[in-house]
Amino acid sequence: MFSKHSLIFGVLARKCTQFAYYSTKVPKPKTAIVMLNMGGPQCVDQVYDYLHRIMTDRDVIQFPFAQDMLGEWIAKRRTPEVQKKYSEIGGGSPILKWTKLQGDLLCKRLDKEHPETAPHKPYVGFRYVSPFTEEALVNLIRDGVERAVIFSQYPQYSCATSGSSLNMVYKYFRDNGISNDLKLSIIDRWSVHPLLAKCFAELIRKELQSLPEDVRKDALILFSAHSLPLKAVNRGDSYPSEVGCTVQLVMWDLQYCNPYQLVWQSKVGPLPWLGPFTDQSVKSYAQQGKKALVVVPIAFVNEHIETLHELDIELVEDAKKAGIEIIRRVPAPNDHPLFIDTIVDLVKHHLKSNLPVSPKLLNRCPHCENPICIESKKWFGQYCRL
Ligand code: FES
Repeated sequence: MFSKHSLIFGVLARKCTQFAYYSTKVPKPKTAIVMLNMGGPQCVDQVYDYLHRIMTDRDVIQFPFAQDMLGEWIAKRRTPEVQKKYSEIGGGSPILKWTKLQGDLLCKRLDKEHPETAPHKPYVGFRYVSPFTEEALVNLIRDGVERAVIFSQYPQYSCATSGSSLNMVYKYFRDNGISNDLKLSIIDRWSVHPLLAKCFAELIRKELQSLPEDVRKDALILFSAHSLPLKAVNRGDSYPSEVGCTVQLVMWDLQYCNPYQLVWQSKVGPLPWLGPFTDQSVKSYAQQGKKALVVVPIAFVNEHIETLHELDIELVEDAKKAGIEIIRRVPAPNDHPLFIDTIVDLVKHHLKSNLPVSPKLLNRCPHCENPICIESKKWFGQYCRL
């Protein structure tokens, strides 16, 4: 027989054990690492909403009038074609899977190597599909973290990619306020990180090694990055120069062992975009007599539709038709150990630094006319701290 007191004591003891279990298993995070990226549809049903959000984002595309109406019209028109492409790569984008894995591996390493700010917790913040940037911010505030590192997953900064995500971070805090207890800081670009270059060089070396010896030396390394409307380039977007920097560092690591070229992919619409374009370049190189190509997606840190469909299916088909005998595609960094070393090193240095936000981010493009950029940069300058 148990007394009433021993029963109460038993229940309390069980609760304490449960609490101790959860406190040891899921410690309260101190530092949030917010992994910003554009995201991709998880299934074909999400394609329309995803395209609609991109087409109505004025940081990406500016129509001279009726942005919402035109954006909606273009999204509707493009949906079937884009849905077909997602079906052909398995029904959805793997970007969430990779970003989660990268975030988990990063935070585990940070807990060990930078215990001062541990425990760290990753939060995925996508711009155009759930989990959205705003959701990540709501969650980290709910978790009561002391510090949030906003970490752009685009190594090379563009106002249309990192800039758009950061403007969204600003809009969230503008509308909801920011607590004095939250330390906010930003990693906005890392195109010249030596370990990133080493990671790409390693991946390229491996692909070159797998080529037959007689073509290896002359194989052309074709670095391919997402293109940008020329209007954005002429506005002063730093993306083309930052991509060029990564390419040069990778080739330096490879000791300029092969011929190489930087080309640009994924142009949409009739307006002029930055070239030369990847598909047209492959055709021209075939005419010039090139037989072997190694294609490197230099501005993507994980696989998504631009690598899995545009390069692996469409480009390979075009190249074969044009007469290229061997075409290999270097994988995106994904969970490559050197890539994880890169992001760990970046965040560690950022946390130790005295630079919560880079002066470059606070400076607008010379011809920027976006009123949100004016507000967001001013706000980041005022509120970011480490
Ligand atoms: Fe580049 Fe506004 S468009 S800072």
